[in-house]
Amino acid sequence: MSDLAREAADRDAGDELAPLRAAFDLDDGAVYLDGNSLGALPRAVAPRLAEVVRHEWGRLRIRSWDESGWWTAPERVGDRIGRLVGAAPGQVVVGDSTSVNLFKALVAAVRLAGPDRDELLVDATAFPTDGYVAASAARMTGRRVRPVEPAAMARACGPRTAALLVNHVDYRTGRLHDLPGVTSAAHAAGAYVVADLCHSAGALPIGLDEHGVDLAAGCTYKYLNGGPGSPAFLHIRRDLQPRFDSPLPGWNSHADPFGMEPAYRPADGAARGRVGTPDILSLLALDAALDVWDGVDLAALRAKSLALTDFFLRCAAAYAPDGRVTSLTPAAHAERGSQVSLRCPGAGAVMAELVRRGVVGDFRRPDVLRFGFAPLYCRFADAERAARILGEVLGDVPGST
Ligand SMILES: Cc1ncc(COP(=O)(O)O)c(C=O)c1O
Repeated sequence: MSDLAREAADRDAGDELAPLRAAFDLDDGAVYLDGNSLGALPRAVAPRLAEVVRHEWGRLRIRSWDESGWWTAPERVGDRIGRLVGAAPGQVVVGDSTSVNLFKALVAAVRLAGPDRDELLVDATAFPTDGYVAASAARMTGRRVRPVEPAAMARACGPRTAALLVNHVDYRTGRLHDLPGVTSAAHAAGAYVVADLCHSAGALPIGLDEHGVDLAAGCTYKYLNGGPGSPAFLHIRRDLQPRFDSPLPGWNSHADPFGMEPAYRPADGAARGRVGTPDILSLLALDAALDVWDGVDLAALRAKSLALTDFFLRCAAAYAPDGRVTSLTPAAHAERGSQVSLRCPGAGAVMAELVRRGVVGDFRRPDVLRFGFAPLYCRFADAERAARILGEVLGDVPGST
């Protein structure tokens, strides 16, 4: 056993979060480092979904909207996510996709900002959907989009800025951006912040209330383990809710949905972010998946995430042939999410071979290997094994030099 493998075993033995891995349907056949794309399956989900299908849908049928709490599930599950993103109850609602929620949030932010502010600042390195949605929101509201590097956003906002769209953690590099700093700069300029939390929710403490973040959206199928296509969340800061004017005012966000009134009157609270009928099966799969978070201390989660990514970087440096990979992920803890991205020539072929040898990360064109470290179930031994096999693959795969 190598020194690094021994160190990994010791660190796993001392890891207070280690017992949580047993709550997931994982085996030791592969190292799963793609929880930043699709979280692993919590064991509680399948039996709970079977019960929902058989009993709540099968037996109670329509009664379940009320008796099984289906109608209010978007807010109830939203509150559970609220704890994980640092928002007190009543500010998070679950439904739709992140793309759709970003659209609602951006248009609502422009409407909050008023007619004199004509620009939307958009994180120039954002996940593509953010840019597409922002462009359409700007076109629809008669604003213009100004792409800005995330590090320059705080300085770039001014009296013309209506809203800033920021990715909290960069999906490609794993870089953590300064959401509190951008938020306070935006507020000083009289603008609103919309945060994309896809790669930070469930990966690190976010503190939406603490930092006064206005609006936020994020997906639940990554670190929150909600399952493929599980519904996204939308956060609307409590004091903004009465003025949150959704561009998609469906009947589910009406003050009296069953009044069937021809005129729209928005509901109070986070329910104002709803649109149409929620996807109950996916929503309740997510609800069951969230059970694994009960009692998890987010400071301990963050400490483990940083320790895992530090350790993986050390192992990669030790095992990868010199100069074959370079880290795109910042070394500074304050700038790192919960993933490590390595630039590597021939990355596509390298990742395909890694997967074949039981190390599942992913490849982003043109040359990035991404390894996500979900602290609830990733082990130090996984980090060591993945880096060791990466070293072997780099030695074997042609074109990776
Ligand atoms: C940072 C980021 N934003 C937005 C999205 C899009 O989410 P959705 O497919 O739920 O619209 C993703 C998806 O991976 C993402 O990583």
